[in-house]
Formats: sequence, structure tokens, C-alpha cells
Amino acid sequence: MTMDFEKPIEEIIRKRYSCRTYVNEKLDEKSIEKINEFLQLKEKGPFDKNAKFILVDTKKKEEKLKIGTYGLISGARYFIVGIVNKKSVNFTDFGYLMEKVILKATELNYGTVWLGRSFNTNTFSNFVHLDDNEIIPAISPIGNIARNKRNLDKIISWGIKARKRKAWSELFFDNQFTKPLTAEKSAPYALALELLRLAPSARNNQPWRIVKVNELFHFYLKVQSRYIIEVFESMRFIDIGIAMCHFELTAKENQLPGKWSIENPQLVTQPKNCKYIATWTNK
Ligand SMILES: Cc1cc2nc3c(=O)[nH]c(=O)nc-3n(C[C@H](O)[C@H](O)[C@H](O)COP(=O)(O)O)c2cc1C
Repeated sequence: MTMDFEKPIEEIIRKRYSCRTYVNEKLDEKSIEKINEFLQLKEKGPFDKNAKFILVDTKKKEEKLKIGTYGLISGARYFIVGIVNKKSVNFTDFGYLMEKVILKATELNYGTVWLGRSFNTNTFSNFVHLDDNEIIPAISPIGNIARNKRNLDKIISWGIKARKRKAWSELFFDNQFTKPLTAEKSAPYALALELLRLAPSARNNQPWRIVKVNELFHFYLKVQSRYIIEVFESMRFIDIGIAMCHFELTAKENQLPGKWSIENPQLVTQPKNCKYIATWTNK
């Protein structure tokens, strides 16, 4: 089963933000059923790896949970827990797949926020059964958004599209890393790139860099150092998977079919701290 969206993807992506205040209430059976339905995501990511997503009701262990999320999140009772096998994990695929889940939850008007590493994995392994080699790379609360002042402000900021994101010229390039890509030059992919730009990323780092060469879009990940330190950098692979998800969903919805492939163009201007990940090709 692939995940289908009923609302326009642009509307869903623009609506999503990191919600940190929830109404702590029980969801009705119908809602729970609906969430469980879309968590049965059977598709694989661009690198052919899958992931599991489980809905957890933490009600009875609330105290422990506060420790688990370091008090950053309030009122969250239900969580989507992402699970992968650490022996075969591909964090880009994990990010891609979990973002589809997040966007589906957004479509259904639930609040979500990606949480990676700021929660205590042990807390959550009390709620889900993990097989040997299974790990939890990230979780997200899922629930009704509390209509407090803070969230109202957020809702208003959706309206004016006030998002703290890097400028196009820092993210998207034309042929080489030295020349910024304009929206005009990126047509008909301008919306796909713009909605990629609105993707969530750990610490809002926005580590995605994209170079358009002829009709191909080459995706790069900006890492902190040339040496990928597994613990920190796995989050960045999740980030690029999320960005690929936004780009692909928007392209496909706008009748721009294509697929992911590995076609490193070996650009001479590629910075040392940018790692080639994949290419979107419409061939
Ligand atoms: C992989 C990943 C991990 C994240 N981890 C946390 C986290 O631990 N705590 C938190 O409060 N937000 C976390 N976030 C949310 C980001 O801070 C947020 O997406 C970013 O600041 C952009 O804001 P927005 O989602 O409202 O557009 C994470 C996001 C991603 C993609």
C-alpha cells in the first residue's frame, strides 16, 4: 500500500509545524483506528529499506514520560514510535517514510513534532516491543493541538508564511555549487523546491543542498565535518530523507513523474562537507 493524500500536498506541507503543546485527552476509537490504518505503511524508501511505525498510548506512565521527553513537550499522550533494524537501517529512507506519516497526521489536523535523540529511548522501549537489533531513531507525539496563545501565534504565522528558512540562494544551485538557482530556472520544479525548503530538520539546520544540472536534480547533504560521526550525522540523513519526501510528493502531484537514482555528477565545485546522496531524474 502506498500512502495517499486527500488534500493538496501544498496545503498539508504549509500547515505542518512543530507542535509542542497538545490537549491531553483520550482519542476516540475511530481516530485511533484511522491513525493505525495509515501507520501500516508498507512501502519502502528510495533506498529500498523499510521502517515500522507504532502508535503508543502513554497514559498510564505519564510520570516516566516527562523524563523521556525532557519536559519540552506538554500534553502529549499518544506517540508515533519509529522503529528500524540497526543492522540494515538507512536513515534517509527512515526520514522519507516517517515524514509521510507526519504529513498524513497533519492532513487529519493532528499536531506532530519530530523528536530525535532528545527523548530517552529506554522510556519508549517500555511501551513497544523491540526485537534484537531494533532501535528507535525518532518519535513524534500525535494529538489535538492545544489552542493556547502560543499555538494561536503559530497559526497566524502559517498565514503569513513566516518560516525561518534559508534563502533559495543558499540551498539551490544551477549547474555548479557556485551559481544560485532562480525559481524561473527551476520551473516547473519551483514549487517542489519551495515545499522542500519548508521541510522540518533537526535544529532547523536545513542541511539540504540541491544542484540542478540540465533536467536532473542532485541532492547533497551538508555534514558538519568530512568525517561522518554516526550518532550526530544519522539525524542529518533523516533530514535529507524528509526533504526528498517533500520534493517527490510535490513533483508527483504536479504531474512531474520521476524517480530516484544514483548519478553523482562529480561536480568540481562540490564542497568537501557536502555529501552526494541521490538524484531525481525524470528520464
Ligand atoms: C530529525 C529531527 C529531529 C528533531 N528533534 C527535535 C527534538 O529533539 N526536539 C524538538 O523540540 N524538536 C525537534 N525537531 C523539530 C525541529 O526543531 C523543527 O522541525 C525545526 O525547528 C523547524 O520548525 P518547524 O518544524 O516548526 O517548521 C526535530 C526535527 C527533525 C527533522
